[in-house]
Amino acid sequence: MCGIVGYIGHRDAYPVVLKGLQRLEYRGYDSAGIALYDGEELKLCKTKGKVADLKEKLESSISTKGNVGLGHTRWATHGVPNDVNSHPHYSNSGNLVIIHNGIIENYDALKKELKTRGFTFESDTDTEVLVNLIEDVSNKEGVKLGKAVQIALNQTVGAYAIAVFDKRKPNEIVVARLGSPLAIGVGEDEFFIASDASPFIEYTSNAIYLEDGEMAVVRRDKGIKVRKIKDDSLVDPYVQELQLNLEQIEKGGYEHFMLKEIYEQPSAISDTFRGRMLADKGIIRMAGVDDNIERISNAKRILIVACGTSWHAGLVAEYIFEDLARIPVEVEYASEFRYRNPIISENDVVIAISQSGETADTMAAIKLAKEKGAFVFGVCNVVGSSISRETHAGAYTHAGPEIGVASTKAFTTQITVLTLMALKLAKHKGTISHPDFMLLLQEMERIPGKVKLALGSNENIKFIADIYKDARNCLYLGRGFNFPVALEGALKLKEISYIHAEGYPAAEMKHGPIALIDEQMPVVVIATKKGHYEKVVSNIQEIKSRSGKIIAIVTEGDTEVRDLADHVIEVPETMELLTPLLTTIPLQLLSYHIAVMLGKNVDQPRNLAKSVTVE
Ligand code: AGP
Ligand code: GLU
Repeated sequence: MCGIVGYIGHRDAYPVVLKGLQRLEYRGYDSAGIALYDGEELKLCKTKGKVADLKEKLESSISTKGNVGLGHTRWATHGVPNDVNSHPHYSNSGNLVIIHNGIIENYDALKKELKTRGFTFESDTDTEVLVNLIEDVSNKEGVKLGKAVQIALNQTVGAYAIAVFDKRKPNEIVVARLGSPLAIGVGEDEFFIASDASPFIEYTSNAIYLEDGEMAVVRRDKGIKVRKIKDDSLVDPYVQELQLNLEQIEKGGYEHFMLKEIYEQPSAISDTFRGRMLADKGIIRMAGVDDNIERISNAKRILIVACGTSWHAGLVAEYIFEDLARIPVEVEYASEFRYRNPIISENDVVIAISQSGETADTMAAIKLAKEKGAFVFGVCNVVGSSISRETHAGAYTHAGPEIGVASTKAFTTQITVLTLMALKLAKHKGTISHPDFMLLLQEMERIPGKVKLALGSNENIKFIADIYKDARNCLYLGRGFNFPVALEGALKLKEISYIHAEGYPAAEMKHGPIALIDEQMPVVVIATKKGHYEKVVSNIQEIKSRSGKIIAIVTEGDTEVRDLADHVIEVPETMELLTPLLTTIPLQLLSYHIAVMLGKNVDQPRNLAKSVTVE
């Protein structure tokens, strides 16, 4: 999501914090800032842009003296990337300063309450609300910073890794975490705070990783006190000696960013529906949809424009929107759409899907659609990206930066956003019963846990990858909601292992591709219990009778396909419409392991760029 860095001790804080932010650049960000305290003055400098821009601006605007420092690289969730919305944020009094990684879901209600108590706000961020809530608690309750942070956090809903400093108590920094990582580097009379150990590993290898729901008061003269946020009970911190090197830390201990991002999908999906979906109350809140609900739900047609993996997510969305909201959907490659003189009217709604928010073809398609009067809704992963600013409205995936060129968590979070959108429209149009609506919301809430279970097949998938890593071709088959997943699985294999692969609707086999089947051809078949299971089983039998090698993705406990396939990979049972969120996981891992075994550059495959900003 972003990076936080803090220092309190005997050194000059500025070089430690600045270098720490540079170490965290790999996490992706859109703006940066540093606050310093020199014993008298609490000063800060922040800017949209890169750490290098911050360095230049800071060194020409404030003194870099001080033994206490807080630094932040932002991945915006609330408030576009600009100087004012960058962190750190002061409280109204100017006594407190905060840096934050995460999302405060109930910031709007808290902000309204604080405004009635006379607080004012400079930025559009949730973080500035949090620092003023802490100040308000401290003023009202007459408590010290640590207690004020604890009370305030118990009034919030969301995810955070925060560091707060009060210039009136200059010997301490208060930190806390829930849902976002936070590590404390323990030195000799000095302490480091960071999103991971990369900013402090050169100073100390002793670290405390706070657990979710824990906070700590870090005092340069008295050491660290760790407590549980919920009940203020003391925790005996475990100081571990780190054996990781810098590169291992950046990848979270994973060998590649792609693998890290595959494993981040449970949290990326829950971060994406966090604050939007209140399953127990049957509520979906999406400002971009709510504010335009009539325009979107009355659309004569929804056109989806995207490229690559985002196009595959669009194809899944076509099945979901038509199934739930009964609105006709057409999915178009943006690169084709923009040149084929398409028929577009003001009755159309166009949904543009783009992880980077910078894809040139998708941007051009958006402009064409707007010229012809359509309403354009964007689904992007980068706040403030060109596409997110070009569309009339939108909804962000909160996947956090996706660094591996092969898109993984973007795909599942795009499907998450689009599913919530389709559910919202279906509810508004009355095309879904309330019980079915509630069932889907409750099942969506269980999806992150089920993705985690699907990731549990990693060793089995590695075993299968070793058998088929030298294949020259591969077929991927799926039906219904899983047909687009077959296409996506084939793209993953192609783009990182350079093995030719094609995705097909399973029933299409007999219209040509079955001629390709022989014992050299591995065929990955998505054969989960829901949907046209029996028909897929017949397709598997057709392949088997031609000596094809079958790798089947099945619902856990399946026995029928297990008897037919050469290999099975299980995913947990879920509702048919949500199966793509699970069936894509083994396909991501299969392509990853094959590519690694072939010695390919998994994170930066040949000929590819993470964002195709040219035609
Ligand atoms: C997918 O793994 C590729 N990296 C590529 O197809 C990508 O999905 C496509 O270029 C679209 O990118 P976007 O989502 O950033 O617009
Ligand atoms: N939600 C905060 C913001 O938008 C923090 C985002 C982040 O993790 O960088 O400023």
